[in-house]
Amino acid sequence: MRKQYTTPISLASYLIIIFGLALLILTHGLVRSAGIVLPILGTSIFCYSRFSLRSAFDRHIEKSLTGDLADIGKHYCKLDVVDEKADGEGVPSRNWRSGFWVAEVVEDAKRPVIVGCVGLGKSYAYSSEDETSAELRRLVISPRYRHKGIGRKLIQTVVHFAREHQIETIYLTTSSYQQPAINLYKKLGFHLEGKREMTIQMQKWKIYAFRLNVNGYSL
Ligand SMILES: CC(C)(COP(=O)(O)OP(=O)(O)OC[C@H]1O[C@@H](n2cnc3c(N)ncnc32)[C@H](O)[C@@H]1OP(=O)(O)O)[C@@H](O)C(=O)NCCC(=O)NCCS
Repeated sequence: MRKQYTTPISLASYLIIIFGLALLILTHGLVRSAGIVLPILGTSIFCYSRFSLRSAFDRHIEKSLTGDLADIGKHYCKLDVVDEKADGEGVPSRNWRSGFWVAEVVEDAKRPVIVGCVGLGKSYAYSSEDETSAELRRLVISPRYRHKGIGRKLIQTVVHFAREHQIETIYLTTSSYQQPAINLYKKLGFHLEGKREMTIQMQKWKIYAFRLNVNGYSL
């Protein structure tokens, strides 16, 4: 979200505010009244753009919470039974390539608290027929616990799991407003595969697609 302070629309609103204040200080009469209107206009544009960006994130969160995150077991932890054993439990198939992990902390001998999560599942954005790739998603760490290596640890856990389940490629997408995530993926060896632009309520979003070749990746 900090990136939003330097978007073209934010920069334009700062200019409008500064120009208005200059008019207010340096001019008189009718021109001076523009010095009152312009800072109000600039502030309104800035607030609107910030509000619309926030509501785009809120919608995304809402969609996630009512979608796959509403039933994590169903979406990420399904066992495909390929071989019924005598006890009827079966064994997981080789195509089982999804999972969901949480990071917990225990503070002051209290019960563990979940402070982060990540999921690996069937790729929405890429060919669902491809049985050797999966998509990493829902990576998030509670703000208080960020920058402590938990995000890195969760991704390493996913890569380890992928390797053990014959997954060769991990894909993911993120946006230009998630710079810490971009840094994290680059640092862990993900390759930028492509980017596209989209506009949501006057905001330009750059969507980045990253890919990690699991084979040969050193954890
Ligand atoms: C992105 C996120 C998961 C990172 O988790 P984290 O536990 O704080 O990350 P780590 O402590 O493991 O950091 C690993 C690397 O990521 C990068 N990084 C993490 N936070 C950063 C920040 N605030 N600014 C810049 N780089 C950052 C750094 O390269 C860091 O390596 P370093 O510690 O050697 O500098 C976390 O910031 C987050 O939950 N963000 C909001 C949700 C989100 O954007 N999720 C990604 C969805 S695609």
